[in-house]
Amino acid sequence: MKDYFPQALHELAPYIPGEQPSSTSKIIKLNTNENPYPPSPKILEAIQDILSNGYLRKYPQPTSKNLCESIAKYFQIDPEMILATNGSDEGISILFRSVLTQNAKLIIPWPTYSLYPVIAGQLMNNTKVVYVKLKNDYHLDIEQILSHKGNLLAFANPNAPTGILENKDILRYILSNFDGLVLVDEAYIDFASPDSSMISEIKNFPNLIVSRTFSKSYSLAGLRVGFLVSQTQNISLLMKLKDSYNLGMLEQTIAKSALEDISYFRNNIQKIISSRNKLQTDLENLGFYVLSSQTNFLFVKPPSPFLAEDIFLNLKNLNIFVRYFKEEMCKDFLRITIGTEEENELLVSSLVSILKR
Ligand SMILES: Cc1ncc(COP(=O)(O)O)c(C=O)c1O
Repeated sequence: MKDYFPQALHELAPYIPGEQPSSTSKIIKLNTNENPYPPSPKILEAIQDILSNGYLRKYPQPTSKNLCESIAKYFQIDPEMILATNGSDEGISILFRSVLTQNAKLIIPWPTYSLYPVIAGQLMNNTKVVYVKLKNDYHLDIEQILSHKGNLLAFANPNAPTGILENKDILRYILSNFDGLVLVDEAYIDFASPDSSMISEIKNFPNLIVSRTFSKSYSLAGLRVGFLVSQTQNISLLMKLKDSYNLGMLEQTIAKSALEDISYFRNNIQKIISSRNKLQTDLENLGFYVLSSQTNFLFVKPPSPFLAEDIFLNLKNLNIFVRYFKEEMCKDFLRITIGTEEENELLVSSLVSILKR
């Protein structure tokens, strides 16, 4: 049979997301960093308003204007500095397409969000990916990163799967010294100490692009809404690459109403942070080594002689899903999403019984 597709497509390694079991009823799902609590109840009114007025007959706003205005008000920035996207993954993909042209170079620390090299591969244009290993303390190796020249440097802050946050001085130093664009993926920043976001720094750095998502802190992973923030001249260029209607009307309206329910949001974040602290203590009491997390997950190493992969499989047998990555710097660890209090307690009691075997 004739092959209509390029060899590069045959060779492409797809992204492997965490398992999404079809029935979640009996499963404790702590493997994809979803929020264990429901989104703001205010989104119901927004949905009803759209349905009862028959708005779905019409196309949505192409640039998600109302949503961007709400986001701009929240961050006290100009709406023209925002590009609303179909999940932050789409924003990352648009950015990569914009800057990683033929034979371009992408620098990423490793490990970080494993989608970055996958998106670079999807460009099928010989983009070279340079991996810079994290230091032994799991922080960015600034000297090594800056020893490379590239079109784009991309990393998550706080990082995934480690949960570690870099301080703003370090990020400012990188931005001042890297000669290309810098993507700071802030998917988890709402769970970090206040004032950790780089959005307030965008005015000072024309090479800074921040990506954000409604998937984690707003409990809307199923909706697919995220956004990029950068100086207006960057956003107006990136805008050219989005699909004409990249966000549906429900997506735009639901995200806007979730964003505007600030007290619900803050309360939800506080609950997760205090559960994170409690789970960290409980796991440390069991002998786990826990990296200091500023996210809604913990990256933990079981006490010897127990192996992370065995514990992952044992938990899975008990219908508790966590995430295990086989690669270097990850293979001794489990990444555990913070669940409800009840889920975390079940996890801990299951670990107690596994460690006793
Ligand atoms: C670091 C990081 N960035 C982005 C995403 C994806 O976010 P979204 O659901 O908005 O596409 C994830 C999801 O796990 C993530 O871990």
